[in-house]
Amino acid sequence: MKPSSILVTGGAGYIGSHVVLQLRARGERVVVLDDLSRGFRQAVLDTPLVVGQVGDRETVLNVMREHDVDTVMHFAAFTIVPESVSEPLKYYGNNTCSTRALLESCLEGGVKNFVFSSTAAVYGIPAEGVAAEDTPTAPINPYGTSKLMSEWMLRDVSGASTLKHVALRYFNVAGSDSQGRVGQATPKATLLIKVACEHVIGKRPQVAIYGSDYATPDGTGVRDYIHVEDLATAHLDALDYLRGGGASTVLNVGYGHGYSVREVLQSVERVSGQRLNIREEPRRPGDPPALVARAERIRRELGWKPRLDDLDTIVRTALAWEERLQRAPWS
Ligand SMILES: NC(=O)c1ccc[n+]([C@@H]2O[C@H](COP(=O)([O-])OP(=O)(O)OC[C@H]3O[C@@H](n4cnc5c(N)ncnc54)[C@H](O)[C@@H]3O)[C@@H](O)[C@H]2O)c1
Repeated sequence: MKPSSILVTGGAGYIGSHVVLQLRARGERVVVLDDLSRGFRQAVLDTPLVVGQVGDRETVLNVMREHDVDTVMHFAAFTIVPESVSEPLKYYGNNTCSTRALLESCLEGGVKNFVFSSTAAVYGIPAEGVAAEDTPTAPINPYGTSKLMSEWMLRDVSGASTLKHVALRYFNVAGSDSQGRVGQATPKATLLIKVACEHVIGKRPQVAIYGSDYATPDGTGVRDYIHVEDLATAHLDALDYLRGGGASTVLNVGYGHGYSVREVLQSVERVSGQRLNIREEPRRPGDPPALVARAERIRRELGWKPRLDDLDTIVRTALAWEERLQRAPWS
């Protein structure tokens, strides 16, 4: 009998492409579904790619039948917070409604395991800047709400069917494949480490600190930065857990400690050997002073063991990727 496949939605995007590489490296059968609205054909390398939308039931069911899919890893989504504020229905449509349609296809297609890309944005602004999985969810933008609604659908579908899921709430993802094969190519990225590396290679004239008067050790915002390869490994661990009969669960993925914006920029200066042109700007509305994961549960439940918990390592891979992308841009 042909072994089952894993359907990776959004596998032509930043995080999904790293997960695909790790799945393939351990011999899993993988098929990517991506509409290439924000992803890149180059990111998929030689993995089978179906260009289509996750909300398109006919396409999804055909892929499931053709590839004998028993597991779905669902990355496809829109991810830009300010855009979600100005165009909320775009986010509820592509993130929430498409996930509903995908779940319906999963039930029809007999999918057993579902790994979902959720986000720390479901917590909003948690007290003390630390969020555990049982911290009350209170998203403050449509992006976070669109993801939380998907978590709720998953919870209810898992309760009413044989499908089991792991929802992973990512903190601040950064860095790139240490072999330089894939990385984040998103135009107009807003995440600090990528923005600072783009400044180093001359793509941006400066880098901004938004808010330097927070009640944090150096006054700038603190975040839990996680290397994308460690994040990718968490998906493989989640898959093993579900295959081993694990119950549906929700888990934070972060290192459990944070760095301030200034510490990140110092790391970029250290790694690149360049002085950055830093501009101080007022706080941005909706930015929590600190957002760090309580991250014991994923280690306990999945046996997840991060290997790249080092800020300079994250920055080094992010910078190497920016240099590579400048030499050979993706389009
Ligand atoms: N990057 C982060 O720091 C971060 C943090 C928390 C959660 N997440 C979540 O992780 C997932 C992946 O994020 P990313 O940073 O890799 O984003 P990305 O934009 O690089 O990748 C998303 C991919 O999904 C595709 N896509 C979007 N809508 C689609 C649809 N309807 N049908 C088919 N394909 C579609 C895009 O073309 C793109 O390739 C998202 O669900 C995001 O919400 C990301």
